[in-house]
Amino acid sequence: MQNPRDILNEIFSATSVFKDKSKLSPDYIPPRLPHREDKIKELGLAFKDVVTNPGSSSQRVIIVGRVGTGKTATSKAFGQEFKNIAKTRGIKLEYVHLNCHRQRTLYLLMLEIANQLKLPIPSRGLSSQEIFELIHEYLEKRGMYLIVAFDEFDYFLSTSPLEDIYFLVRIYDELNTTVKRVNYLFIVRELGIVTGLDKSVKDHIMRRVIEFKPYTSAELQDILQDRIKEAFYENTVMDDVVKFIADTHGYDKGGTGNARAAIETLEVAGELADRDNSPIVTLEHAKEANSRVNPEASILLDSIRYLELHDLILLRAIIALYNKERREFYQMGLVEEEYKKLCEELGEEPRKHTQVYEYIRRLRSMGILSTRQSGKGMRGRTTLISLSIPISPDLVDFIDKELRGRLQ
Ligand SMILES: Nc1ncnc2c1ncn2[C@@H]1O[C@H](COP(=O)(O)OP(=O)(O)OP(=O)(O)O)[C@@H](O)[C@H]1O
Ligand SMILES: [Mg+2]
Repeated sequence: MQNPRDILNEIFSATSVFKDKSKLSPDYIPPRLPHREDKIKELGLAFKDVVTNPGSSSQRVIIVGRVGTGKTATSKAFGQEFKNIAKTRGIKLEYVHLNCHRQRTLYLLMLEIANQLKLPIPSRGLSSQEIFELIHEYLEKRGMYLIVAFDEFDYFLSTSPLEDIYFLVRIYDELNTTVKRVNYLFIVRELGIVTGLDKSVKDHIMRRVIEFKPYTSAELQDILQDRIKEAFYENTVMDDVVKFIADTHGYDKGGTGNARAAIETLEVAGELADRDNSPIVTLEHAKEANSRVNPEASILLDSIRYLELHDLILLRAIIALYNKERREFYQMGLVEEEYKKLCEELGEEPRKHTQVYEYIRRLRSMGILSTRQSGKGMRGRTTLISLSIPISPDLVDFIDKELRGRLQ
């Protein structure tokens, strides 16, 4: 069902697959966060006391997760809603989200909290501690509570002097207040940096750990489908595009599980479709987008340079198949046949099946190939292999040159 606005918009922007590109921007927080529902619940439980028993304690929670696993988006969405719910229950609660990479020192962090609370700070040189005291007084006077999220906290931990770290996590030991008004949400990519800290600091931070796992391919598909509905016109993005992008980034398929990279690939694929005046985003657009977005793309040639001879022969064989048949997937048996043929031509002894399988896994982990199991309709279960990178003549030349170099 389309609303009148969408229908009319479609007429005026017939040359684009995008309905609203801003919905793909990294700062946009979507109304739903598929597969993070349980994390929002965990956060709610962790901070529940702030609303049900305000002032009794200062909560500390740490979120841990790799790049693009939704830490920032989820905590912001949580903060916004939690604040609303507190309000309906008569609790004055503010949620302040800080980025330790942007506010690089304790002083700048304190200033930013004040700023977000709209609390003016006199410009005479106050110390971080003094600013914090002003913030606390401000909360006291208004009977308010605060959740502060320190995003990219790894950065603060690795660059700040120990005394600043101490101050930040142990503020209440110094302030001697009875009503606890400030609660903490720390966000890091890895726990390593925290576990390496002094025990007293560590124990303060690691009260409650919430882990964000890298997304699987199926999870990324749901995330992408949601965004497609918001950002693209209906039926402009084919299902195979979504599946390809999700498989490339899905953690269970050898990817990094990074939703940001997946969404960015989708956006670039859309731009490439517009460039080609194509009414739909095709698999070819997605593949080209992948090679542009994939952070590994630029080092792809470098990694090919370091491939061992038989990885390289196998890759060349798959490319030969692709150039002949232009199919999306090739059965393992077919790939092995082509590989053996090429070995004979080059005067090389072909490796055994298990070894070839290892090469496939290696190429897959490098983002060069993707694999999946054949479904019903094919006799027996077999591995299907597909190229994840666009095959340009330049790339083929490069590989051929490498091969010749190795065989001399
Ligand atoms: N479950 C989800 N549903 C919808 N969009 C998501 C989801 N998880 C992440 N995203 C989107 O993916 C992008 C990256 O997410 P986010 O910025 O929250 O990751 P992060 O874990 O904070 O990464 P980093 O460690 O790099 O800061 C954002 O555009 C975000 O909106
Ligand atoms: Mg983040």
